[in-house]
Amino acid sequence: MNTLTPLAQGPDTDTAVRMLCQAFAGTPEGVREWLALGDIANIRVLRHPDQPANPASLLLRIPMGQFFGGRSIPLLGVAGVAVAPENRGRGFARTMMQAFVREARDQGFPLAGLYASTHSLYRQIGFEHAGFRFQYRIPFSHLPRHKVPTTVVPLADADMPAVQRAYANFARRYNGPLDRGPYIWSRIRKLRETAYTGFGIPDDSGNLLGYLFLNQSRRPDGRQDLQLSDLAFLSLPAGQRLLTFLADFAMMAEDLVFFGGPEHPALTLLPQQRHEVFLKDTWFLRVIDPAAALAARGYSPALDAELHLHITDDTIPENTGPYTLRVRRGDADVSRGGRGDLRCSINGLAALFSSFASPHQAALAGWCQGPPDALDLAAGLFAGTPPWMSDMY
Ligand SMILES: CC(C)(COP(=O)(O)OP(=O)(O)OC[C@H]1O[C@@H](n2cnc3c(N)ncnc32)[C@H](O)[C@@H]1OP(=O)(O)O)[C@@H](O)C(=O)NCCC(=O)NCCS
Repeated sequence: MNTLTPLAQGPDTDTAVRMLCQAFAGTPEGVREWLALGDIANIRVLRHPDQPANPASLLLRIPMGQFFGGRSIPLLGVAGVAVAPENRGRGFARTMMQAFVREARDQGFPLAGLYASTHSLYRQIGFEHAGFRFQYRIPFSHLPRHKVPTTVVPLADADMPAVQRAYANFARRYNGPLDRGPYIWSRIRKLRETAYTGFGIPDDSGNLLGYLFLNQSRRPDGRQDLQLSDLAFLSLPAGQRLLTFLADFAMMAEDLVFFGGPEHPALTLLPQQRHEVFLKDTWFLRVIDPAAALAARGYSPALDAELHLHITDDTIPENTGPYTLRVRRGDADVSRGGRGDLRCSINGLAALFSSFASPHQAALAGWCQGPPDALDLAAGLFAGTPPWMSDMY
C-alpha cells in the first residue's frame, strides 16, 4: 500500500478533516474551507495497510512554479502533511513523502517544495534548505515621504491580470519567489479570516508600475498595525510612491509588517535602519528530475561552460548517475553521462540549484565534494543573490 490515492468524498473527507484539525489545531469549518481552496482533487492519502478503507495520512499538492535564474520552473508544492495522532511514529509520513516524490517524478515535475516542521523527515526524502522567508517590522514613523507625481488607485477583481503581470515582472528578478497559482493568489487576498485590500500604480497602457495588498488590524489602544500580503514595484519612483502611500497611514498606524528575503528593494528605500528583520522560516526544495530542472533554470548569459556532475538519489534511483551540464548564452543542455567531477547528493543539488549555498559552502555541509576546479566552475554557474519568497504555503 505504498501508493497515494485521491481523497474519496464521504467518510474519507471526515477523517481528513479530523487529521488536519488535530495536526494544525484548526477548526472543522476552517479545515473544510482550506480543503475547498486547495482543491480536494489535490489531496493525496496514504491508506492504513491493515485497514485500507482508512486514510492514515494525507497531504495537499499545490501545482505552481518557482523562479530561478530569471525563469519559472514547474514546482509541486506540498502543504498540510498530516498523520493521525494514533498513527504517528510508525513511518507513515516517510512512506507518504516517498510516494509523493515518486508521483511528482512520474508526472514530470522538475521540482517540489515545502515548508518543514520537521527537517529530518523531509531531508530523508531528498528535500533540503534552499531559501529564506524573513519578516520585516518597520515603525511607520520611519517611512519616508516622497513627492512622486503618480496616482495610486484601489484595485478591483478586474485588475488581477495586471497585478499578476507586475508580480511576474518583479519576482523573476530574484531566485526563489513563487510563480503563483490560484491557491497562492487567493491567499494574497484572503488568508483565513484576514482580508487584504489592493492598491496599485497604473500606467497609461493598462499595466501596473507597482502594487500592494494590505490589512489593517486595530490594537487595544485604538491605533493600528498594517500587514502586507504582497508588495512589488518595477521602478524607483513606483517604490517611493508606494512607501509614501503607506506613510500616509502614519497618523493612526504604529508598525508595518511584510515578508521577503535578506534583501528587499523596499528596505533599501528606507532613510534609516530602524526596522527589525527576523527569520520566519527557511523553505525546502527537492530536485525531482535533475536533468529537467538543470535545463529549465536560467544562467548568466556571460558564461560558456561545461560542468560534469554526479548525483546520488536514494529515493528516485534512476536520478543517480553522471550528468553533463552545458551552459551557453544563458541556456543549458543537460545529458546523462560524463566524468562526474562534482559529486552531489540530491539534497545538495537543491541547495546549489537555488543559490542557497555555494559549492564551497555546500562541501562543509557534506552536500557535495569535488576537485577545486569543479567547485569553482559550479560556483560560477549557480551564483546568484540569496533565494527567498514572501509567500508561506
Ligand atoms: C510530522 C508528522 C507528519 C510525522 O509523521 P509520522 O508518521 O509520525 O513520521 P514518521 O514515523 O514517518 O517519521 C519520519 C521521520 O520524521 C521525523 N519525526 C517523526 N516524528 C518526530 C518527532 N516526534 N520528533 C522529531 N522528529 C520526528 C524523524 O526524522 C522520523 O524519522 P526517524 O524515525 O528515522 O528519525 C506528524 O507528526 C504530524 O502529523 N505532525 C503534525 C503536523 C505537522 O507537523 N505536519 C508537517 C508540516 S510540514
